[in-house]
Amino acid sequence: MEKFTTKKLKKLFTSFFLEKQHKQIASASLVPDNDGSVLFTTAGMHPLVPYLLGKSHPEGKRLVDFQKCIRTSDIDEVGDKSHLTFFEMLGSWSLGDYFKNEILEYSFEFLTHKKWLNLPIYKLAVSCFEGDKNSPKDTFSYNKWKTLGIKEENIFYLPAEHNWWALGEVGPCGPDSEMFYITNKAPCGKECSPACSCGRYLEIWNDVFMGYVRHKENGPIVELESKNVDTGMGIERTVCVLNGYDSVYEIDSLKPAITMLEKLSGKKYDENEKVTRAMRIIADHLRATTMILGDEIPTLPSNVGRGYVLRRLIRRSVNFARRLNIDAFALEQVVLWYIDFFKEDYTSLQNNHSMIIEEFKKEIEQFNKTLSYGLKEFEKVKLQSKNMIIDGIAAFRLYDTFGFPMEITKELAHEAGYTVDEKKYHEKFAEHQEKSRASNTQVFKGGLAGTDEIYAKYHTATHLLLACLRKHFGNDINQRGSNITAERLRFDFNINRKLEKHELQLLEDEINKIINQKVDVIMRETSLKEAKESGAVGIFEDKYGDKVFVYSIGDFSKEICGGPHASNTSELGHFKIIKEESCSAGVRRIKAILQ
Ligand code: ALA
Repeated sequence: MEKFTTKKLKKLFTSFFLEKQHKQIASASLVPDNDGSVLFTTAGMHPLVPYLLGKSHPEGKRLVDFQKCIRTSDIDEVGDKSHLTFFEMLGSWSLGDYFKNEILEYSFEFLTHKKWLNLPIYKLAVSCFEGDKNSPKDTFSYNKWKTLGIKEENIFYLPAEHNWWALGEVGPCGPDSEMFYITNKAPCGKECSPACSCGRYLEIWNDVFMGYVRHKENGPIVELESKNVDTGMGIERTVCVLNGYDSVYEIDSLKPAITMLEKLSGKKYDENEKVTRAMRIIADHLRATTMILGDEIPTLPSNVGRGYVLRRLIRRSVNFARRLNIDAFALEQVVLWYIDFFKEDYTSLQNNHSMIIEEFKKEIEQFNKTLSYGLKEFEKVKLQSKNMIIDGIAAFRLYDTFGFPMEITKELAHEAGYTVDEKKYHEKFAEHQEKSRASNTQVFKGGLAGTDEIYAKYHTATHLLLACLRKHFGNDINQRGSNITAERLRFDFNINRKLEKHELQLLEDEINKIINQKVDVIMRETSLKEAKESGAVGIFEDKYGDKVFVYSIGDFSKEICGGPHASNTSELGHFKIIKEESCSAGVRRIKAILQ
């Protein structure tokens, strides 16, 4: 049988909707521009939120596209058969135009007609919303599917947990009707339904009847004036199902990467579970890396926000490559293949070609440096250890602070005749995972936790910058303005000349030195008077109340400030000045990033 490719599915889906008078729109950036609550675009409808809420779309009321998406919440699950960090989603929309009747007819036609997917009707199951206080039981969809020819035994009512779709805590939402492919697996029991994860039913498409909105977290769900339809078909999963593959890594947009990894490592993908998992993780992470670096709004590796996700993806790929005896720099070939595969559909990959490769290699170099710091640290840990056992907490610190992977700690320990207290390490690791899961959930919910952390780092970096400016250019230098976003800091200060290149380098070096010294940031609450007497720097004094917070960073900086701050300079990563310019007479401006 001819293989079903992602390109073919894209072509069929868009042609189908074009025939139904839809306009094709381009995939939007992975960086959401109307939503600060999530780091990446997570669904096809994400860039269309304003239009689903009633704004008129320049291309009209019927749209179709394929959208690049990134979901980071399941990053630790990647390596199994189906989870992916980057994926593509086909979508179609009616913005207040047609509603349930038409989209259910379209869906049935696309899935079953021989001109389109040509799936046998008996292989299809569907689910409909069973109803709750927000929206009634969806008998319309149930009856429509029945009339179209789906057997009643394959139509299921399911509760909101399965059949209510929303992007996040706030925004447009609504009941949905989902379509499933019935595999040859027998039902797992009497109650077996598309709600089970037993593998009998595989979801291929989702029609959301987006006629509701939630304006604020925990607020009421209210009806929207325009009744929209939002459909989404995950490309990788659907192509996997259509070909009867066992995992998504068999499809055309992933398999060649796996084959390259087999060649580079000299190992077989199905040799054993460990190799399979490692190859899947590398293939997934490098695909996401390519798309993030090559997006029309590129993100570079850093220690914050999107940049941190990217850094983690690259470094994890390198770690798993190491396990397979693949040289990190050889992974460039896989990245090149992804650029080539996706460049037609996402032209920014072509434009950013050399930047993608440069930044990828730079990050590997930087990671190698981190590893060499880690090696030094490991030697210290070894000297401090008792009974030839490397303490689990120290092993975790090597991982957490130096990005030093546990496998490497274990290898080194083994070579030196030591063992590692793995139990303690895993306990510490689980604790940490729980924390980061909670904070990821927060980013998804409201963006607060994650963003706060980023702001805190930039705030602390601003203190270091001011302190270094004063040290080198005079104590009469003060802050004249400061602005921090999740991507950079901007700092204005009084000086009546341009700073030379070597002076900027000096500032950078000095700040990075303090960062690398891992100095604690100490906060003390005191009276304004006492703070001033102790030599704390402060501006806009009349803004402060009588009680103030003084933040000290070793002997380098003491400043009155409202926070938030990092607790140790080591959290900041690498400080880099990206611009120095005039702001106004006698005031210069520095923009800097943390990488
Ligand atoms: N927005 C819906 C989804 O992502 C279609 O499943």
